[in-house]
Amino acid sequence: MSFGVAPQSIIYANPTKPKSHLEYAAEMNVSVMTVDSDFELHKIKAHYPHANLVLRIRCDAKVAQCPLGEKYGCNPDTDGKDLIELAKSLGLNMIGISFHVGSGCMDPSAYAKAIQASRKLFDFAKIIGYNFTLLDIGGGFPGDRDTDIKEIASIVNHNVDLLFPSPDVTIIAEPGRFYVSSAYTLACQVHSKRVVRQNGKFDSVMYYINDGVYGSFNCNLYDHKIVHPTTLKSADEELFKSSIWGPTCDALDQVCENVSLPRLNIDDFIIFEDMGAYTIPIASPFNGFPLPRIEYYVQRKHLEDINATTASHEYILLRGN
Ligand SMILES: Cc1ncc(COP(=O)(O)O)c(C=O)c1O
Repeated sequence: MSFGVAPQSIIYANPTKPKSHLEYAAEMNVSVMTVDSDFELHKIKAHYPHANLVLRIRCDAKVAQCPLGEKYGCNPDTDGKDLIELAKSLGLNMIGISFHVGSGCMDPSAYAKAIQASRKLFDFAKIIGYNFTLLDIGGGFPGDRDTDIKEIASIVNHNVDLLFPSPDVTIIAEPGRFYVSSAYTLACQVHSKRVVRQNGKFDSVMYYINDGVYGSFNCNLYDHKIVHPTTLKSADEELFKSSIWGPTCDALDQVCENVSLPRLNIDDFIIFEDMGAYTIPIASPFNGFPLPRIEYYVQRKHLEDINATTASHEYILLRGN
């Protein structure tokens, strides 16, 4: 709302809400919110009875980078109708269905199944006197550089055209990684190095860098991401078995377990692309390590109107935090 977004344009998409958050949503007039249990319906009845409810159903992709169905979404076949009926009997206003097939969805057919399950619940709701007007297809869309959304888009469009042709139903999505997966390329610096030997023979090199799993690379832990390092060295340099570690004293703080890298020295850079989604926003100040300081650089060629005297390098510093 501090960006000037109207409360009616916001969906409170967490199906489990503390009472104080519900009361705050009521105060701010953010009325559209998801639910997936009878407890939540009773709580909303007590703390925000005029809310506009969206039933979140579970329709998991067979493969997803970060499955969400274990935590949220009612079973559309066994619980969906009961919850719609309960909402009706409590005098609550229910306006539609939402789902999230899993973040980083690798099974586009999940969207078809979820839209079909939604249609059944729209029809049931009509029978008991609701007029659903919102279908929220959640997230799950890819965002890395080498991915595209065409297959998911065509499945979604086909099923929406077929099952939700009426303009009275608003269709929304909640894209997260689609927008920001490739938001930035991260350049980290090697601050320490150690050579591992087995029986006196070279085994590998350990590089310690100034960002780790408690900083930008928490995507390794929480987003099950495998990051790919590159360097600024020439492509024909000899490669060595290497591992990359974050700056904290925690052994869990490993960025890459086993990668081939040219010989790097202290202060050399290691580069990681596609570092936008589920990275820095989830960083924590583990053991007093400050959150990574951010400096935004852009390639000169992308800034045609920049004053040529501001920098003479290919990359230009825009702003630091
Ligand atoms: C309710 C909800 N909507 C949207 C998103 C964004 O998902 P994605 O990054 O897969 O697009 C998430 C991510 O966890 C979520 O929990």
